[in-house]
Amino acid sequence: MRVLVITGAGVSAESGIPTFRGKDGYWRNLDPAKLATPTAFQNDPKLVWEWYRERRERIRKSEPNPAHQAIVKLAAYAREFLLVTQNVDDLHARAEWEGNTLAREKIVQIHGDIFITRCSYCDLSSRNERDKEVGGLPRCPECDGLMRPGVVWFGEQLPLGEIQRVENFLDENACDFALVIGTTATFGYIIDWALRAIASNGELVEVNPEETSLSRFATHLIRERAAVALPRLVDQIFAQPPKL
Ligand code: APR
Repeated sequence: MRVLVITGAGVSAESGIPTFRGKDGYWRNLDPAKLATPTAFQNDPKLVWEWYRERRERIRKSEPNPAHQAIVKLAAYAREFLLVTQNVDDLHARAEWEGNTLAREKIVQIHGDIFITRCSYCDLSSRNERDKEVGGLPRCPECDGLMRPGVVWFGEQLPLGEIQRVENFLDENACDFALVIGTTATFGYIIDWALRAIASNGELVEVNPEETSLSRFATHLIRERAAVALPRLVDQIFAQPPKL
């Protein structure tokens, strides 16, 4: 069985991580869509760093939920599997099912990784919290440039290497299932990848309590929270007779 899973902020909501566009997404009355931009960083890097440092802290204290675990189970059963997540947290990587975790090569973090700090100028990157600091801001140990979180901000290019990994998976073969979980699917590439994955024959399942721009393309809609729906859905997928 070949499966593509695409996740968004909703899959981490039940681990206590606020979604972007939900009511808890605002931070100190500031809209994340305005903070997560190159312009916000240029104007007030300290403020943007404070937001990311608080988010890192919150993620470190959070645990994967049953939706993350069910995805590990799905990967363990499916012969061919890729997870494309828009989440910059590490909950997919930390989730376990029967002692298994998701192999690195099965996860594409298409919007980057919040625990990476990289230079705005020379692209040097590290996971080291003890970056050189000047005036409360991390500076590049190589070129003294301002370091920034290793995430993709609004208006920025997606990482080309990660796009290529998704494209390679899609080019190899059509999927039996594309599951799109907890995302408003605001970006065209999310809808495009889900539709390409299923080609003409696969099932496109959306798990989201609310309607999204992807809903009209889905072959199955599950209007439930991910942590409730996913464990059951994964069991149902494996109870199905194989396609001829
Ligand atoms: N289970 C499933 N879905 C949920 C749950 C839940 N428990 N709670 C909320 N949702 C759904 C919401 O209905 C919404 O459709 O999750 C979605 C969260 O949407 P967004 O906050 O827009 O997050 P996402 O789609 O991941 O955003 C995409 O946009 O802000 C940028 O780069 C950022 O990666 C992010 C991208």
